[in-house]
Amino acid sequence: MLPIVTLMIEPFSALALLAGGVLGNAWFWSSYANRLYSLRVRSKILDRFRIPHDLAMVSGPFILLLSLLRLPVLLQRSRLNPIEQIELGLWSIPWLIAAIGLFALSLRFVHRIVRRKPPGYQLTRSEVVDVELQLGHRPIGAGPYQSLVNLPANQAFAPEFNEKRFEFAALPAGFDGLRVLHISDVHFLGTIDLPFYETVFKQMQLWKPDLIVFTGDLIDRKEKLNWVDTTFGTLSAPLGCYYILGNHDWHHNCDPIRGRMEELGWTLCAEEPQFISSPDNPQDVIAIAGDERPWMGEAPSFESVPENAFRLLLSHSPDNIADARRQNVQLMLSGHNHGGQVKLPVLGPVYSPSWYGVRYADGVFQEQGTTLHVSRGVSGKHPLRIRCRPEVSLLTLNRAQNAVHG
Ligand SMILES: [Fe+2]
Repeated sequence: MLPIVTLMIEPFSALALLAGGVLGNAWFWSSYANRLYSLRVRSKILDRFRIPHDLAMVSGPFILLLSLLRLPVLLQRSRLNPIEQIELGLWSIPWLIAAIGLFALSLRFVHRIVRRKPPGYQLTRSEVVDVELQLGHRPIGAGPYQSLVNLPANQAFAPEFNEKRFEFAALPAGFDGLRVLHISDVHFLGTIDLPFYETVFKQMQLWKPDLIVFTGDLIDRKEKLNWVDTTFGTLSAPLGCYYILGNHDWHHNCDPIRGRMEELGWTLCAEEPQFISSPDNPQDVIAIAGDERPWMGEAPSFESVPENAFRLLLSHSPDNIADARRQNVQLMLSGHNHGGQVKLPVLGPVYSPSWYGVRYADGVFQEQGTTLHVSRGVSGKHPLRIRCRPEVSLLTLNRAQNAVHG
Protein backbone atom coordinates (compact mmCIF):
# COMPACT_ATOMS: atom_id res chain seq x y z
CA MET A 1 0.00 0.00 0.00
CA LEU A 2 2.79 2.37 0.96
CA PRO A 3 4.41 2.61 -2.54
CA ILE A 4 1.04 3.65 -4.03
CA VAL A 5 0.63 6.31 -1.37
CA THR A 6 4.19 7.54 -1.93
CA LEU A 7 3.55 7.70 -5.68
CA MET A 8 0.40 9.67 -5.19
CA ILE A 9 1.83 12.29 -2.94
CA GLU A 10 4.80 13.02 -5.19
CA PRO A 11 3.69 15.98 -7.31
CA PHE A 12 5.25 14.92 -10.65
CA SER A 13 4.01 11.35 -10.33
CA ALA A 14 0.60 12.67 -9.35
CA LEU A 15 0.53 14.94 -12.41
CA ALA A 16 1.49 12.05 -14.69
CA LEU A 17 -1.15 9.88 -13.06
CA LEU A 18 -3.73 12.61 -13.51
CA ALA A 19 -2.80 13.10 -17.17
CA GLY A 20 -3.10 9.35 -17.79
CA GLY A 21 -6.41 9.30 -15.95
CA VAL A 22 -7.81 12.19 -18.00
CA LEU A 23 -6.70 10.52 -21.26
CA GLY A 24 -8.16 7.15 -20.25
CA ASN A 25 -11.42 8.77 -19.13
CA ALA A 26 -11.73 10.67 -22.43
CA TRP A 27 -11.01 7.56 -24.51
CA PHE A 28 -13.51 5.47 -22.51
CA TRP A 29 -16.36 7.95 -22.98
CA SER A 30 -15.59 8.73 -26.63
CA SER A 31 -15.63 4.96 -27.24
CA TYR A 32 -19.03 4.83 -25.52
CA ALA A 33 -20.34 7.63 -27.80
CA ASN A 34 -18.92 5.89 -30.90
CA ARG A 35 -20.81 2.67 -30.11
CA LEU A 36 -23.97 4.60 -29.22
CA TYR A 37 -24.05 6.49 -32.52
CA SER A 38 -23.54 3.30 -34.53
CA LEU A 39 -26.98 2.03 -33.46
CA ARG A 40 -30.33 2.29 -35.21
CA VAL A 41 -31.73 4.82 -32.75
CA ARG A 42 -33.54 8.10 -33.44
CA SER A 43 -31.46 11.21 -32.79
CA LYS A 44 -33.65 12.50 -29.93
CA ILE A 45 -33.04 9.30 -27.94
CA LEU A 46 -29.36 9.26 -28.93
CA ASP A 47 -28.96 12.77 -27.55
CA ARG A 48 -30.41 11.64 -24.21
CA PHE A 49 -27.99 8.72 -23.97
CA ARG A 50 -25.16 11.11 -24.82
CA ILE A 51 -25.63 12.97 -21.53
CA PRO A 52 -23.35 10.61 -19.49
CA HIS A 53 -20.63 11.17 -22.12
CA ASP A 54 -20.98 14.97 -21.95
CA LEU A 55 -21.01 15.02 -18.15
CA ALA A 56 -18.05 12.64 -17.84
CA MET A 57 -15.98 14.59 -20.38
CA VAL A 58 -16.49 17.86 -18.49
CA SER A 59 -16.42 16.62 -14.89
CA GLY A 60 -14.00 13.67 -15.31
CA PRO A 61 -10.76 15.65 -14.83
CA PHE A 62 -12.10 17.34 -11.66
CA ILE A 63 -13.36 14.07 -10.18
CA LEU A 64 -9.99 12.44 -10.89
CA LEU A 65 -8.19 15.36 -9.25
CA LEU A 66 -10.41 15.21 -6.16
CA SER A 67 -9.93 11.45 -5.90
CA LEU A 68 -6.16 11.94 -6.14
CA LEU A 69 -6.38 14.21 -3.09
CA ARG A 70 -8.69 11.96 -1.11
CA LEU A 71 -7.48 8.44 -2.02
CA PRO A 72 -4.02 8.75 -0.35
CA VAL A 73 -5.71 9.81 2.88
CA LEU A 74 -7.96 6.76 2.84
CA LEU A 75 -5.22 4.37 1.75
CA GLN A 76 -2.92 5.49 4.59
CA ARG A 77 -5.44 4.43 7.21
CA SER A 78 -4.86 0.99 8.66
CA ARG A 79 -8.56 0.46 9.20
CA LEU A 80 -11.55 1.91 7.37
CA ASN A 81 -15.03 2.21 8.80
CA PRO A 82 -17.96 1.10 6.56
CA ILE A 83 -18.61 4.66 5.29
CA GLU A 84 -14.94 5.09 4.40
CA GLN A 85 -14.96 1.71 2.66
CA ILE A 86 -17.88 2.88 0.48
CA GLU A 87 -16.05 6.16 -0.12
CA LEU A 88 -12.91 4.28 -1.19
CA GLY A 89 -15.00 2.23 -3.62
CA LEU A 90 -16.65 5.31 -5.11
CA TRP A 91 -13.36 7.21 -5.56
CA SER A 92 -11.91 4.12 -7.27
CA ILE A 93 -14.62 4.01 -9.98
CA PRO A 94 -13.21 6.90 -12.10
CA TRP A 95 -9.78 5.21 -11.99
CA LEU A 96 -11.29 1.91 -13.09
CA ILE A 97 -12.97 3.69 -16.04
CA ALA A 98 -9.69 5.46 -16.87
CA ALA A 99 -7.78 2.14 -16.71
CA ILE A 100 -10.26 0.52 -19.13
CA GLY A 101 -9.94 3.55 -21.43
CA LEU A 102 -6.13 3.41 -21.38
CA PHE A 103 -6.19 -0.34 -22.08
CA ALA A 104 -8.53 0.21 -25.08
CA LEU A 105 -6.28 3.02 -26.30
CA SER A 106 -3.18 0.82 -26.09
CA LEU A 107 -5.01 -1.88 -28.11
CA ARG A 108 -5.79 0.79 -30.70
CA PHE A 109 -2.06 1.66 -30.97
CA VAL A 110 -1.11 -2.01 -31.32
CA HIS A 111 -3.72 -2.42 -34.06
CA ARG A 112 -2.35 0.62 -35.88
CA ILE A 113 1.21 -0.69 -35.66
CA VAL A 114 0.48 -4.23 -36.86
CA ARG A 115 -1.93 -3.13 -39.62
CA ARG A 116 -0.41 -3.86 -43.01
CA LYS A 117 -1.01 -1.95 -46.21
CA PRO A 118 -3.46 -4.09 -48.21
CA PRO A 119 -1.59 -5.94 -51.00
CA GLY A 120 -2.30 -4.54 -54.46
CA TYR A 121 -3.45 -1.16 -53.14
CA GLN A 122 -1.74 2.12 -53.94
CA LEU A 123 -2.59 5.81 -53.61
CA THR A 124 -1.39 7.01 -57.01
CA ARG A 125 -2.34 10.71 -56.92
CA SER A 126 -3.72 13.18 -54.44
CA GLU A 127 -4.73 16.74 -55.17
CA VAL A 128 -6.24 19.30 -52.80
CA VAL A 129 -8.86 21.49 -54.47
CA ASP A 130 -9.30 24.73 -52.54
CA VAL A 131 -12.91 25.56 -53.40
CA GLU A 132 -12.76 28.81 -51.43
CA LEU A 133 -9.85 29.94 -53.60
CA GLN A 134 -11.62 28.89 -56.80
CA LEU A 135 -14.83 30.74 -55.89
CA GLY A 136 -13.07 33.78 -54.44
CA HIS A 137 -15.08 33.53 -51.22
CA ARG A 138 -15.88 31.01 -48.50
CA PRO A 139 -19.22 29.45 -49.53
CA ILE A 140 -21.17 29.71 -46.28
CA GLY A 141 -24.97 29.55 -46.24
CA ALA A 142 -27.51 30.24 -43.49
CA GLY A 143 -27.46 26.77 -41.86
CA PRO A 144 -26.57 25.91 -38.25
CA TYR A 145 -23.12 25.47 -36.62
CA GLN A 146 -21.90 28.80 -38.03
CA SER A 147 -19.32 29.07 -35.24
CA LEU A 148 -17.46 26.04 -36.62
CA VAL A 149 -16.95 27.16 -40.20
CA ASN A 150 -14.47 29.93 -39.49
CA LEU A 151 -12.37 28.05 -36.94
CA PRO A 152 -8.68 28.25 -37.79
CA ALA A 153 -7.27 25.24 -39.66
CA ASN A 154 -10.74 24.12 -40.74
CA GLN A 155 -10.21 22.17 -43.98
CA ALA A 156 -13.92 21.69 -44.74
CA PHE A 157 -13.66 23.82 -47.91
CA ALA A 158 -10.59 22.17 -49.39
CA PRO A 159 -11.30 18.53 -50.26
CA GLU A 160 -8.78 16.00 -51.46
CA PHE A 161 -9.26 14.38 -54.86
CA ASN A 162 -7.61 11.00 -54.47
CA GLU A 163 -6.78 8.48 -57.16
CA LYS A 164 -6.33 4.95 -55.82
CA ARG A 165 -5.36 1.75 -57.54
CA PHE A 166 -6.48 -1.73 -56.52
CA GLU A 167 -5.66 -5.22 -57.76
CA PHE A 168 -8.09 -8.11 -57.69
CA ALA A 169 -7.47 -11.68 -58.80
CA ALA A 170 -11.24 -12.15 -59.21
CA LEU A 171 -11.77 -9.13 -61.48
CA PRO A 172 -13.02 -10.33 -64.89
CA ALA A 173 -10.72 -9.33 -67.79
CA GLY A 174 -13.47 -7.18 -69.32
CA PHE A 175 -13.26 -4.82 -66.34
CA ASP A 176 -9.48 -4.51 -66.14
CA GLY A 177 -8.76 -0.81 -65.60
CA LEU A 178 -12.34 0.02 -64.54
CA ARG A 179 -12.52 3.53 -63.04
CA VAL A 180 -15.06 3.92 -60.24
CA LEU A 181 -15.88 7.30 -58.77
CA HIS A 182 -16.71 6.86 -55.07
CA ILE A 183 -18.67 9.74 -53.48
CA SER A 184 -19.98 9.65 -49.93
CA ASP A 185 -21.60 11.77 -47.21
CA VAL A 186 -22.46 15.08 -48.88
CA HIS A 187 -24.83 16.10 -46.04
CA PHE A 188 -26.81 18.87 -47.75
CA LEU A 189 -27.66 21.10 -44.78
CA GLY A 190 -27.15 24.71 -45.79
CA THR A 191 -24.17 25.76 -43.68
CA ILE A 192 -21.75 24.86 -46.45
CA ASP A 193 -23.48 26.44 -49.42
CA LEU A 194 -24.46 24.94 -52.77
CA PRO A 195 -21.61 26.54 -54.81
CA PHE A 196 -19.14 24.41 -52.79
CA TYR A 197 -20.86 21.22 -53.88
CA GLU A 198 -21.35 22.39 -57.48
CA THR A 199 -17.61 23.10 -57.74
CA VAL A 200 -16.68 19.70 -56.28
CA PHE A 201 -19.12 17.83 -58.52
CA LYS A 202 -17.92 19.70 -61.63
CA GLN A 203 -14.35 18.72 -60.79
CA MET A 204 -15.32 15.07 -60.25
CA GLN A 205 -16.90 14.76 -63.69
CA LEU A 206 -13.54 15.76 -65.23
CA TRP A 207 -12.29 12.31 -64.22
CA LYS A 208 -14.74 10.78 -66.76
CA PRO A 209 -15.32 7.67 -64.63
CA ASP A 210 -16.77 4.41 -66.01
CA LEU A 211 -19.02 3.89 -63.01
CA ILE A 212 -20.20 6.23 -60.23
CA VAL A 213 -21.35 5.20 -56.76
CA PHE A 214 -22.66 7.18 -53.80
CA THR A 215 -22.64 5.56 -50.37
CA GLY A 216 -25.21 7.61 -48.46
CA ASP A 217 -25.95 10.60 -46.21
CA LEU A 218 -27.35 12.89 -48.85
CA ILE A 219 -29.44 15.39 -46.89
CA ASP A 220 -29.62 16.82 -43.40
CA ARG A 221 -32.47 19.19 -44.32
CA LYS A 222 -35.26 18.07 -46.62
CA GLU A 223 -35.52 21.61 -48.07
CA LYS A 224 -32.08 21.07 -49.59
CA LEU A 225 -33.16 18.05 -51.65
CA ASN A 226 -33.38 20.24 -54.78
CA TRP A 227 -29.59 20.71 -54.54
CA VAL A 228 -29.29 17.25 -56.14
CA ASP A 229 -30.32 18.75 -59.50
CA THR A 230 -27.11 20.75 -60.01
CA THR A 231 -24.85 18.20 -58.30
CA PHE A 232 -25.83 14.54 -58.67
CA GLY A 233 -27.91 15.44 -61.74
CA THR A 234 -24.80 16.63 -63.60
CA LEU A 235 -22.89 13.35 -63.27
CA SER A 236 -22.95 10.54 -65.80
CA ALA A 237 -20.96 7.41 -66.51
CA PRO A 238 -21.17 4.75 -69.26
CA LEU A 239 -21.82 1.93 -66.77
CA GLY A 240 -24.27 3.95 -64.68
CA CYS A 241 -24.69 5.74 -61.36
CA TYR A 242 -25.65 3.69 -58.29
CA TYR A 243 -26.46 4.82 -54.77
CA ILE A 244 -27.66 3.91 -51.30
CA LEU A 245 -28.83 6.16 -48.45
CA GLY A 246 -27.44 6.59 -44.94
CA ASN A 247 -28.52 7.21 -41.36
CA HIS A 248 -28.93 10.98 -41.86
CA ASP A 249 -31.34 10.32 -44.75
CA TRP A 250 -33.20 7.81 -42.55
CA HIS A 251 -34.17 10.68 -40.22
CA HIS A 252 -36.29 12.05 -43.10
CA ASN A 253 -38.89 10.54 -45.38
CA CYS A 254 -36.67 8.67 -47.85
CA ASP A 255 -39.30 8.23 -50.60
CA PRO A 256 -38.91 11.75 -52.10
CA ILE A 257 -35.10 11.38 -51.96
CA ARG A 258 -35.18 8.05 -53.78
CA GLY A 259 -37.77 9.40 -56.24
CA ARG A 260 -35.68 12.43 -57.18
CA MET A 261 -32.45 10.41 -57.49
CA GLU A 262 -34.25 7.98 -59.83
CA GLU A 263 -35.51 10.89 -61.97
CA LEU A 264 -31.91 12.07 -62.28
CA GLY A 265 -30.82 8.66 -63.57
CA TRP A 266 -29.41 7.19 -60.36
CA THR A 267 -30.15 3.52 -59.63
CA LEU A 268 -30.88 2.44 -56.08
CA CYS A 269 -28.69 -0.43 -55.00
CA ALA A 270 -31.00 -2.72 -53.10
CA GLU A 271 -30.46 -5.96 -51.22
CA GLU A 272 -30.81 -7.98 -54.44
CA PRO A 273 -27.66 -7.59 -56.55
CA GLN A 274 -27.91 -5.95 -59.95
CA PHE A 275 -25.64 -6.86 -62.80
CA ILE A 276 -23.32 -4.67 -64.83
CA SER A 277 -21.96 -6.30 -68.00
CA SER A 278 -18.67 -5.40 -69.58
CA PRO A 279 -19.18 -3.58 -72.92
CA ASP A 280 -16.15 -5.48 -74.29
CA ASN A 281 -17.23 -8.90 -73.09
CA PRO A 282 -20.88 -9.20 -71.92
CA GLN A 283 -20.08 -12.45 -70.12
CA ASP A 284 -17.92 -10.52 -67.69
CA VAL A 285 -20.19 -9.26 -64.95
CA ILE A 286 -20.10 -7.12 -61.80
CA ALA A 287 -22.78 -7.92 -59.22
CA ILE A 288 -23.47 -4.72 -57.27
CA ALA A 289 -25.63 -4.68 -54.12
CA GLY A 290 -26.41 -2.23 -51.34
CA ASP A 291 -26.57 -2.43 -47.56
CA GLU A 292 -28.30 0.37 -45.64
CA ARG A 293 -28.33 -1.49 -42.33
CA PRO A 294 -28.75 -1.03 -39.45
CA TRP A 295 -31.04 1.86 -40.40
CA MET A 296 -32.94 0.46 -43.38
CA GLY A 297 -33.49 -2.74 -45.35
CA GLU A 298 -32.13 -6.23 -45.02
CA ALA A 299 -28.73 -7.82 -45.52
CA PRO A 300 -27.97 -8.21 -49.22
CA SER A 301 -27.70 -11.72 -50.57
CA PHE A 302 -25.19 -12.73 -53.24
CA GLU A 303 -26.46 -16.33 -53.32
CA SER A 304 -27.86 -16.11 -56.85
CA VAL A 305 -24.72 -14.46 -58.22
CA PRO A 306 -22.71 -16.49 -60.76
CA GLU A 307 -19.35 -17.77 -59.54
CA ASN A 308 -17.30 -15.65 -61.97
CA ALA A 309 -19.04 -12.32 -61.16
CA PHE A 310 -17.10 -9.64 -59.29
CA ARG A 311 -18.94 -8.81 -56.06
CA LEU A 312 -19.21 -5.11 -55.25
CA LEU A 313 -21.04 -3.92 -52.15
CA LEU A 314 -22.11 -0.37 -51.26
CA SER A 315 -22.63 -0.17 -47.50
CA HIS A 316 -23.08 3.17 -45.78
CA SER A 317 -21.51 1.88 -42.57
CA PRO A 318 -18.27 -0.10 -42.67
CA ASP A 319 -19.63 -2.03 -39.66
CA ASN A 320 -21.26 -4.46 -42.12
CA ILE A 321 -17.85 -5.84 -43.13
CA ALA A 322 -18.33 -9.17 -41.32
CA ASP A 323 -21.33 -9.90 -43.52
CA ALA A 324 -19.43 -8.80 -46.62
CA ARG A 325 -16.60 -11.21 -45.75
CA ARG A 326 -19.08 -14.05 -45.23
CA GLN A 327 -20.57 -13.41 -48.68
CA ASN A 328 -17.16 -13.30 -50.38
CA VAL A 329 -17.56 -9.67 -51.44
CA GLN A 330 -14.39 -8.59 -53.22
CA LEU A 331 -14.83 -4.82 -52.83
CA MET A 332 -16.92 -3.00 -50.25
CA LEU A 333 -17.32 0.79 -50.43
CA SER A 334 -18.39 2.76 -47.35
CA GLY A 335 -18.48 6.20 -45.77
CA HIS A 336 -20.32 7.24 -42.61
CA ASN A 337 -17.34 7.81 -40.29
CA HIS A 338 -15.92 10.92 -42.04
CA GLY A 339 -12.39 9.94 -40.97
CA GLY A 340 -13.33 11.15 -37.49
CA GLN A 341 -13.53 14.76 -38.84
CA VAL A 342 -10.77 15.82 -36.42
CA LYS A 343 -7.50 13.91 -36.22
CA LEU A 344 -5.33 14.68 -33.22
CA PRO A 345 -1.54 14.46 -33.39
CA VAL A 346 -0.35 10.98 -32.27
CA LEU A 347 -3.85 9.86 -31.24
CA GLY A 348 -5.48 10.24 -34.67
CA PRO A 349 -9.29 10.25 -34.88
CA VAL A 350 -11.29 10.07 -31.64
CA TYR A 351 -14.93 10.17 -32.72
CA SER A 352 -16.26 7.74 -35.29
CA PRO A 353 -19.88 6.51 -35.06
CA SER A 354 -19.00 2.84 -35.38
CA TRP A 355 -19.32 -0.27 -33.26
CA TYR A 356 -15.59 -0.74 -33.99
CA GLY A 357 -14.78 2.78 -32.76
CA VAL A 358 -12.15 4.55 -34.85
CA ARG A 359 -10.83 1.35 -36.46
CA TYR A 360 -12.60 1.99 -39.80
CA ALA A 361 -12.69 5.80 -39.55
CA ASP A 362 -11.28 6.02 -43.10
CA GLY A 363 -8.83 4.26 -45.38
CA VAL A 364 -8.36 0.91 -47.08
CA PHE A 365 -8.55 -2.40 -45.26
CA GLN A 366 -8.30 -5.99 -46.37
CA GLU A 367 -9.88 -8.75 -44.37
CA GLN A 368 -10.10 -12.34 -45.56
CA GLY A 369 -10.45 -11.58 -49.26
CA THR A 370 -12.68 -8.50 -48.82
CA THR A 371 -11.17 -5.10 -49.58
CA LEU A 372 -12.92 -2.25 -47.78
CA HIS A 373 -12.59 1.37 -48.90
CA VAL A 374 -13.92 3.89 -46.36
CA SER A 375 -14.24 7.40 -47.78
CA ARG A 376 -13.92 10.42 -45.51
CA GLY A 377 -16.86 11.88 -47.43
CA VAL A 378 -17.46 15.28 -48.99
CA SER A 379 -18.88 16.96 -45.90
CA GLY A 380 -20.72 16.34 -42.61
CA LYS A 381 -23.52 17.69 -40.46
CA HIS A 382 -20.88 19.59 -38.51
CA PRO A 383 -18.82 21.65 -41.01
CA LEU A 384 -15.49 21.00 -39.31
CA ARG A 385 -12.42 19.16 -40.59
CA ILE A 386 -9.12 19.40 -38.76
CA ARG A 387 -6.19 17.39 -40.20
CA CYS A 388 -8.88 15.36 -41.95
CA ARG A 389 -9.81 16.76 -45.34
CA PRO A 390 -13.05 15.91 -47.11
CA GLU A 391 -12.45 13.36 -49.83
CA VAL A 392 -13.64 12.07 -53.17
CA SER A 393 -11.91 9.09 -54.74
CA LEU A 394 -11.40 7.64 -58.16
CA LEU A 395 -10.72 3.93 -57.75
CA THR A 396 -9.03 2.13 -60.63
CA LEU A 397 -9.59 -1.61 -60.46
CA ASN A 398 -6.95 -3.78 -62.10
CA ARG A 399 -6.85 -7.48 -62.70
CA ALA A 400 -4.03 -9.00 -60.67
CA GLN A 401 -1.11 -10.44 -62.65
CA ASN A 402 -1.68 -13.86 -61.12
CA ALA A 403 -5.40 -13.86 -61.97
CA VAL A 404 -6.84 -17.10 -63.34
CA HIS A 405 -7.46 -16.52 -67.05
CA GLY A 406 -11.00 -17.19 -68.11
FE1 LIG B 1 -22.29 11.00 -42.75
